[in-house]
Amino acid sequence: MNDSGYREQIKSAAVVGAGQMGHGIALVFARAGIEVRLIDVSEDVLDRATRLIEASLGVMSACGKLGQDETSAIIARIGTTTDLEDGARGVDFVVEAVPEVPEVKKELFSRLDALCPEDVIIASNTSGLDIFEFAEVERPQRLLIAHWFLPPHIIPLVEVVPGAETSPEAVSATVALLERLGKAPVAMKGFTRAFIVNKIQNMISLAVFELLGSGLVTPEDIDRAVKSSLGIRLPVVGVVQSLDFTGLDLVLDLMKSYGLTNRFIADKVEAGHLGAKTARGIYDYGERSEAEILAERDRRYLQMLDRLEEIGAFEPV
Ligand SMILES: NC(=O)c1ccc[n+]([C@@H]2O[C@H](COP(=O)([O-])OP(=O)(O)OC[C@H]3O[C@@H](n4cnc5c(N)ncnc54)[C@H](O)[C@@H]3O)[C@@H](O)[C@H]2O)c1
Repeated sequence: MNDSGYREQIKSAAVVGAGQMGHGIALVFARAGIEVRLIDVSEDVLDRATRLIEASLGVMSACGKLGQDETSAIIARIGTTTDLEDGARGVDFVVEAVPEVPEVKKELFSRLDALCPEDVIIASNTSGLDIFEFAEVERPQRLLIAHWFLPPHIIPLVEVVPGAETSPEAVSATVALLERLGKAPVAMKGFTRAFIVNKIQNMISLAVFELLGSGLVTPEDIDRAVKSSLGIRLPVVGVVQSLDFTGLDLVLDLMKSYGLTNRFIADKVEAGHLGAKTARGIYDYGERSEAEILAERDRRYLQMLDRLEEIGAFEPV
């Protein structure tokens, strides 16, 4: 244990639940040199998980992301078991990746809480449940959410979400570990349902359901439209800076046309911070001129467009 109260040298981890997410998360730990125990309720699931890990490593290797010799060392670091007690015993960090069912997670948290020493963090991969509301644990300060994205061995983001009783040290130790794993953690200050990305994704899904149900457009056309617009812009400007390029005055007018407003945006507009055109909006563009800001944006858009065309991104997978 270090000053933070949590183990600094994470040498071993348990991943509980070897489904879609768990097997990929185990791969990430093992790739970073950490011994992993992958735990599930059935040997069949564990066999499938092992096959999927091998297949993923094969793809990574074929894409030049791994040396052939690394693959067998990674596999050798992953042990499997159906015995939770055996699997979780002595590990330095625990990931919970069982189904999104409160009763299943609740029971598991209580068992893990009893099994793991207090300097071992328990990180839940829930997609949006308020685990802090229903978990019954003696040491809530070491329980947090670390939410990965499918496929976890490829997508960099992990959202780290504390509950009201989670210690800040548990959050910083988890962020440090995720960085060591090569991930791009984003730590939130507190819990909100669906966190960041799923909150946004859910709104997109609702709009997609409405369009699909309307019959006004084909499913393929929806994807073609999004890939040929947002798909090029978002990797460069995200969803927030994107507003700066629209212009916050226009954003406010658009909201008004839907009968909506937003104090955060209205304050910016009142202060004359309209976005890229005033070199200040939600972001601060410093001393750069509007032309310089747009030139930098467009250079990246053009490169993005070239790259997407090169990989055939505009055709369905
Ligand atoms: N699938 C996604 O895109 C995604 C993305 C991010 C987060 N998540 C979250 O990750 C968690 C797991 O999702 P998934 O898609 O991997 O589910 P999954 O159903 O593919 O895998 C869950 C696994 O947990 C096992 N399991 C059930 N009870 C168990 C227990 N008591 N002990 C050990 N293993 C047990 C099941 O046998 C199964 O193999 C969920 O909370 C989900 O919301 C999923």
